[in-house]
Amino acid sequence: MLRKVGILANGGDVSGFNAVIRAIVKTAENHNVECYGIMEGYNGLLKKDFEKLTTTQHGEATGILPKGGSIIGSSTNSNLFNYKIVNEDGSIEYKDMSEQAINNIKEFGFDCIFTLGGDGTQKSARDFSVKGVNIIGVPKTIDNDVACTEITFGYNTAVSVAMEALDRLHTTGETHHRIMVLEVMGRYAGWIALEAAIAGGADIALIPEIPYDINKVAQKIENRKKVGKNFSIVVVAEGAKPLGGDITIMNQRNNGKGVDNTKLGGIGPIVAKQLEELTGLEARNTTLGYMQRGGTPTAFDRVLCSKYGTKAMELALEEKFGTLVVIKNGKLDSVPLEDVVGANTEIGAVSGNTKESNIRHVTMDDDLVKTARNLGINLGD
Ligand code: F6P
Repeated sequence: MLRKVGILANGGDVSGFNAVIRAIVKTAENHNVECYGIMEGYNGLLKKDFEKLTTTQHGEATGILPKGGSIIGSSTNSNLFNYKIVNEDGSIEYKDMSEQAINNIKEFGFDCIFTLGGDGTQKSARDFSVKGVNIIGVPKTIDNDVACTEITFGYNTAVSVAMEALDRLHTTGETHHRIMVLEVMGRYAGWIALEAAIAGGADIALIPEIPYDINKVAQKIENRKKVGKNFSIVVVAEGAKPLGGDITIMNQRNNGKGVDNTKLGGIGPIVAKQLEELTGLEARNTTLGYMQRGGTPTAFDRVLCSKYGTKAMELALEEKFGTLVVIKNGKLDSVPLEDVVGANTEIGAVSGNTKESNIRHVTMDDDLVKTARNLGINLGD
């Protein structure tokens, strides 16, 4: 019998966190289940920072459908299985704090925890599930790279923001006869870059799954010049890499152990400079950055979040714990968290930059790849 549930949002934020929270709370209220927000991701479990969520007139979960961010916060440095502790003398140690979190869950009486997050979040969710906690995961990330689902929430909004940026870059690029490069996020997967390139009518899309030959990219721009098109639009995924080369890393973050500390970024300006040298056209880079994660969700994301949130609560009522809500063959479904995390035990594998990784990459037989090629979008190969 489900009486009290907790919702946590974890990892980098996306548009749509609040829409999922609202959908869970509304469905819960219809079944007389009490909902609490677990504040600041997994940190809240440790700090017993729980806030009641309702959709009553002045409840925290009302009026939040269009709101960006997360009303319950989020965290990118809260791996409770390898938690950073700063001692009084300033020394740092890493401890497994999962048992304390589990005690807090039991003491407060949570019958289920909903984990809204990407692969790292779902790995911790799986680990808690193995230790007996009732968990239902909901796949979040603008990168769209969570295994076992066709789409994650937040992705569509990120693509829409990138598309709008491309529309704007088109007019300025055309006016000044320039190569306009747009660097987008996506970590080790090219979903945002590829879909935005199609939606925004780009000429070139460079994605991590297809190492690019800069000469072939320059050739595409030269060919456009020959037919009088003396501007070009290039979308570069932050994880794109040249043939025989590696991804560009901006820096290493200090988010603790057992989380992805690699901050990608910086490939856009490099590509722009090389193309300027190779084609003789002026080139400018724009790095879209956190614009892709902020603000109101698109209609598509609002509907997806509502589907995911309501389904997650349904699964909890059916006691189908240890699962992730997914879209499979276009329909709502669920899969064991174990399948999502796979055999990955190390965060390096979870985060996508190793061959053991279980993240969902763009595959060469994907409709998006075929569509892009048919449209004449150069993929750098
Ligand atoms: O995973 C989502 C994401 O926005 C990536 O696309 C990007 O590489 C990363 O997070 C940025 O992380 P942070 O918020 O730590 O800068």
